[in-house]
Amino acid sequence: MGNTSQCPALKVTCRSVLVPGRLHPARTPVAGSRAGAAIYIITRVGKANISRQSLVEAIATLEAQRGRVGNDQPLQQAVDTVLLVLREKLVRIQQEPGDQTRPHLAVLVADLSGYTALSERMDVERVRSAINAMWNVLDAVIHAWGGQIDQHAGDSLMALFGLPQPRQGDAARALHAALSMQQELELFNERARHAATSPGDESWATEWPGPRMRIGVHSGPVYFAHAPGSPAAPSGRTTAVGDTVVTARRLEKLAPEGGVLTSQAARRSSHNRFNFIAGPESVAATREEDDLFLVDSERRVESGYTPGTVAGKVTRLVGRTELLDRLQMALQTATDSRMPQLVTIVGAPGAGKSRLVHEFERQARLLGSSPVILRAGTQGAFPDLPYALLRDLFSRRFSIRPQDSRYLVEHKLRRGLSKPDDIARSVETTGILGPTIELVKNLLDARTAALIPMDEALAVMESLSRTLTADTPAIVVLEGINRADHQTLDLIHQLVRNGESGPVLLLGLATVAAATDPEQMLPWLDDSEDIFSPVERLDVPPLSPVDSRLMATEILGPLSPPPMRLLDLVVAEAGGNPLYIEELVRLLIDLGVIVAGERWRVDMDRVENIVLPVSLVKLIESQLAGLPAAERRVLQYAAVFGPLCWDVALLELIPAEEVAEAGVEGAILSLELKDYLVNDDSYSFAGAQAYLIRRDSVREATYDSMAPAERASMHMRVAHWLIANQEDARLNTRFSIDTMIARHFAAAGDTDRAEVWLRRAGAPVDL
Ligand SMILES: Nc1ncnc2c1ncn2[C@@H]1O[C@H](COP(=O)(O)OP(=O)(O)OP(=O)(O)O)[C@@H](O)[C@H]1O
Ligand SMILES: [Mg+2]
Repeated sequence: MGNTSQCPALKVTCRSVLVPGRLHPARTPVAGSRAGAAIYIITRVGKANISRQSLVEAIATLEAQRGRVGNDQPLQQAVDTVLLVLREKLVRIQQEPGDQTRPHLAVLVADLSGYTALSERMDVERVRSAINAMWNVLDAVIHAWGGQIDQHAGDSLMALFGLPQPRQGDAARALHAALSMQQELELFNERARHAATSPGDESWATEWPGPRMRIGVHSGPVYFAHAPGSPAAPSGRTTAVGDTVVTARRLEKLAPEGGVLTSQAARRSSHNRFNFIAGPESVAATREEDDLFLVDSERRVESGYTPGTVAGKVTRLVGRTELLDRLQMALQTATDSRMPQLVTIVGAPGAGKSRLVHEFERQARLLGSSPVILRAGTQGAFPDLPYALLRDLFSRRFSIRPQDSRYLVEHKLRRGLSKPDDIARSVETTGILGPTIELVKNLLDARTAALIPMDEALAVMESLSRTLTADTPAIVVLEGINRADHQTLDLIHQLVRNGESGPVLLLGLATVAAATDPEQMLPWLDDSEDIFSPVERLDVPPLSPVDSRLMATEILGPLSPPPMRLLDLVVAEAGGNPLYIEELVRLLIDLGVIVAGERWRVDMDRVENIVLPVSLVKLIESQLAGLPAAERRVLQYAAVFGPLCWDVALLELIPAEEVAEAGVEGAILSLELKDYLVNDDSYSFAGAQAYLIRRDSVREATYDSMAPAERASMHMRVAHWLIANQEDARLNTRFSIDTMIARHFAAAGDTDRAEVWLRRAGAPVDL
């Protein structure tokens, strides 16, 4: 098996095709794959020229699915062989000296159409100022997405994504940048048109023809060569060359004006983040590899909640009819009284709070009241960030990204607020568009957010809410309210007390550990005693023994019939916690005790010999202990970082002797496939991809799995990383970096430095 040259070789397909090759006729999906990621082991015909990222992805995908192969020996062996081959190949690629000189990058080529006409029509000086003003905007887009400009001429540019180190998502970032550039150019032209009619503005604006741009994006290996001597290229400068660059240029030429044309290769590595349209007919290719695609739009990420799965299947909801009725009644009360209602849904980790709300949303849609549903969460936020929860609400609703310029933010808000089928309605006529835009702009910057007066925010939110609910009620789902910033909590409390915001049902989901009292955290829970109060508390209790058994029977159904003894064990240990039931079955599958193939099998002897974890925390600990070392380490650093971390931070923070760089990337991907991490674009900035730990319970168990001294030294490293990166303007704008640094120093036990940073942040020093 170790002899790779005789290996039957392979190919892995998940969200993207990874290694070029031919599909084996008898392709075998790996049993129980999650997240819809079917995996096939395929006979390889492939080329030798496989990129490092492709290998990292392939290894991560296979690692993520390895446990689910169960006891299927031939398949296990095949997976092991594939992994062995891929790892050897990765080592070889990393050792190749050439790897440094031909990294796998995404190349973006943009060209202004009508440039010649422009320069004929306008005075040279004016062309220069106009073009400079335009490139200032467009170059900023490239940098905001982590790209580097390789060449710049008067009417064109070439940018590279993946420097200094190629990473997952380079192609996606290049495509995001390309779409943003097109939008920014349109907005720039619009501003110029506007300036032309208002006297005293830019002198060139009257003549500016509003040019359009073609953009091509391709990804592949890039070589660097010395640029031919020219006044623009100082000696010693190198420039990107090679087939990938040639193809990117060709794509740009073929792109329609105002459009972005991309290749199969870039499309595949963009991880389904975009909507594509088949490219121009004239270039219809005979080889799949040569297909071209127009990038239509970003795929709207429904960052809503998705229920967990066992062996690829979502469990049917059991019980909870009474709770669903109470939510339905609260919606009815809001609708009838045309006044806000606030229901706080309180429960232990994994009790089923999010699932309850998920079912309620579905029900509400089905019942035809077609409410507007808005969501926000505290997962990516920090309790010390002013109005973080409110900001999250707007960012998600309008797909506002840290990379967006202020013009683009305004454009997204304006468009979002005036869509006929959306919040819109009469936003334009009620005169709240301006104040709403102003509020959101202030929210987006941590420094200005801190200065927003409560009554101002309240006034805007009340008018917006009334407009939004003019002819249909709204449901606002606030996940993780127990961790929300106090400004948003006060705002919600006021909003409900005033009763002026129309029929809106606010649902706050609070995860509460047994020993804590939610009344301490949430200012309004005192009010909920009164039956006429618009504030209600809804506790999500453990499932009854009957419902627990029903749920376990449902999940273990494919064992047809599930052994009584197994059901007894699962139900007895779960204590009515649905997450425990799901995770325990998953653990049994991972351990190979249950084989979730086409027909499920269980080894009851092994079940009897396993000591089942006695609580959800213990269960999560067993799962963490079963993770490959690199994944465990990455998750530990992520847990120390906070609920939110960035891939670049993990890459830089984790010492290479602990996990090699490619190992970190692979582990991140694998953790994502296993649902431990979710990537969240609302908090990505420049080239850094943001990740959240999906469940607090996992974060806590991971955090607790480390010795205090080890954790302290990791916090110290994180504090230093933040200090080194705090100059990044966008990072600084979005987060209160000083407070974050202080928090990490405090956790590292260095209270002196924590105090210094808290003072810098202007926050009260209270450690
Ligand atoms: N009544 C139910 N019937 C069937 N499955 C359920 C039920 N309640 C929850 N589940 C499943 O259990 C898992 C955990 O539920 P959920 O995510 O809603 O927990 P939670 O209380 O929101 O947890 P957290 O505190 O981590 O936010 C989910 O995969 C969900 O689909
Ligand atoms: Mg939840």
